[in-house]
Amino acid sequence: MELNICGLKKMYGSREVLSIRDLVIPSGKITAVLGPNGAGKTTLLNLIAGLEGKDGGRILYDGREDPPFREMTMVFQEPYLISGTVRKNIVWPLKIRKIERPAAEERVAGLADDLGLRGLLDRRAERLSAGERQKTALARALSFRPRLLLLDEPSANLDSKTTAEIERMLRKMRETDRTTIIIVTHNQAQAERTADEMVFLNNGRISGHILREMR
Ligand SMILES: Nc1ncnc2c1ncn2[C@@H]1O[C@H](COP(=O)(O)OP(=O)(O)OP(=O)(O)O)[C@@H](O)[C@H]1O
Ligand SMILES: [Mg+2]
Repeated sequence: MELNICGLKKMYGSREVLSIRDLVIPSGKITAVLGPNGAGKTTLLNLIAGLEGKDGGRILYDGREDPPFREMTMVFQEPYLISGTVRKNIVWPLKIRKIERPAAEERVAGLADDLGLRGLLDRRAERLSAGERQKTALARALSFRPRLLLLDEPSANLDSKTTAEIERMLRKMRETDRTTIIIVTHNQAQAERTADEMVFLNNGRISGHILREMR
């Protein structure tokens, strides 16, 4: 899914926290959004996700103005899991989309294998470590094969093994599903490992945009 952002503005009170004149998020690529604390990264993701109202401008999703809620999802820095097992969490988006049980179970098993969650499927979400929670949230986000995936600092505070598992999963989704992925990260090395494009935000404005060669 391609995003076209134009004249986007967000105010908190009289303070302008985001002002983006023009930004294209390419389809089927991983775009990293970098910038210091308070730069407006989460605000940008929330506006794209349709979780907050904008104070001006447009975001077009494949040319359309309405956010395609059923085709996109967001993973938060502190993921919110539903009470119950890891399996229940991952299968949830498939259940509400009325995917048949065998297909849903196969999908859950595949994601669990990819993310090293196989032995944890029957563990209750409340008992997971931070890394396990984050991987469960990612598996749940990916289970219905979203066309647009938004990630807010998905690996802040995670160790390098878990971070690598998450990054590998994102690259896999880009290859197999052509998922459009936007990842907010403080970690420039992570952006360089995973992203096709890097957008730098500073004081709510784009201060740099690096397009990297196709990979
Ligand atoms: N609900 C709110 N009310 C008032 N100001 C807000 C609100 N949410 C965010 N802001 C302000 O908007 C600015 C951008 O915040 P945002 O959370 O988007 O930054 P960020 O780049 O995600 O930072 P971080 O790296 O710390 O997560 C900050 O100055 C923040 O204080
Ligand atoms: Mg943030």
